[in-house]
Amino acid sequence: MKVVTTLAELGDVRATLPSPFGLVPTMGYLHQGHLSLVRRARAECASVGVTIYVNPAQFSANDDLDSYPRDFDRDLRLLEAEGVDLVWAPADEDMYPPDFQTWVKVEALTRPLEGTHRPGHFRGVTTVVTKLFNATQPDKAYFGQKDAQQAVVIRRMVQDLNFPLKVVVCPTVREPDGLAMSSRNSYLDPQQRKAATVLYRALTAANQAFSAGEREAEVLRHIMSEVLSTESLALAQYISVADPDTLTELTGTVECALLSMAVYVGKTRLIDNMVVGDKGSVIGEK
Ligand code: PAJ
Repeated sequence: MKVVTTLAELGDVRATLPSPFGLVPTMGYLHQGHLSLVRRARAECASVGVTIYVNPAQFSANDDLDSYPRDFDRDLRLLEAEGVDLVWAPADEDMYPPDFQTWVKVEALTRPLEGTHRPGHFRGVTTVVTKLFNATQPDKAYFGQKDAQQAVVIRRMVQDLNFPLKVVVCPTVREPDGLAMSSRNSYLDPQQRKAATVLYRALTAANQAFSAGEREAEVLRHIMSEVLSTESLALAQYISVADPDTLTELTGTVECALLSMAVYVGKTRLIDNMVVGDKGSVIGEK
């Protein structure tokens, strides 16, 4: 496994790697969710690269950039064990030099949901992912359903800007009690960690109602909100029943929907989602 920092080193190593080359972009502090993307890439590609970069451009001033968990040595050990060929951990100076002024912005898809509550977040994500794609030239790039809106936005960007690569979206990996794995789960104290299962419980309740025939968007939203309100340590920021392709909020009868939510547990902001009635949407778990 080659570990590189500069663009020059990256170019040298990338030139030696066989096609198809699969890329897994991450911000590090790796868990089984990240590793599931690496394994999928390993299974489908002749060579695999992972980027580790806590991208300042996708954090806003009151976000957790400084406290975002990091453990580079542990990440490298995990990636080595997965048979990864290349790890690129760029430096801020290479990604955002002082005269940097070019941004990639996906429009309508970045307005609702996370976009409403994290202004500028997706502009940071799409810009850094563009830079990672340009520098590494992947044939396939792997993203998690966990960040459903991010996956939809990146698929759109890849199509709109004619990136010659395929986006693969992989299912959410959960803890045994249902909590979606996330680097941010490390912020939770034991009591909050218990409370954090409420996101999965709320999504499961709505999913079960849908399976039992419930089709009213308002009722599905209400079911999630009722479950969330039973947990005194949890405070919902949004609860959504949206079209999985356009991400617009749905009303009335739904045939297919992205159920999603952002919930504060203490100071930690957690997100989770499930797709119900999937008929080949851009993010449905496959
Ligand atoms: P990060 O949060 O580190 O996540 C890296 C990738 O792992 C993303 O595609 C994310 O959706 C996926 N992932 C995270 N938790 C997961 C889980 N429990 N199951 C499955 N996949 C999971 O997302 C980012 O970094 C950044 O925004 C990035 C795309 C790297 C751009 O900076």
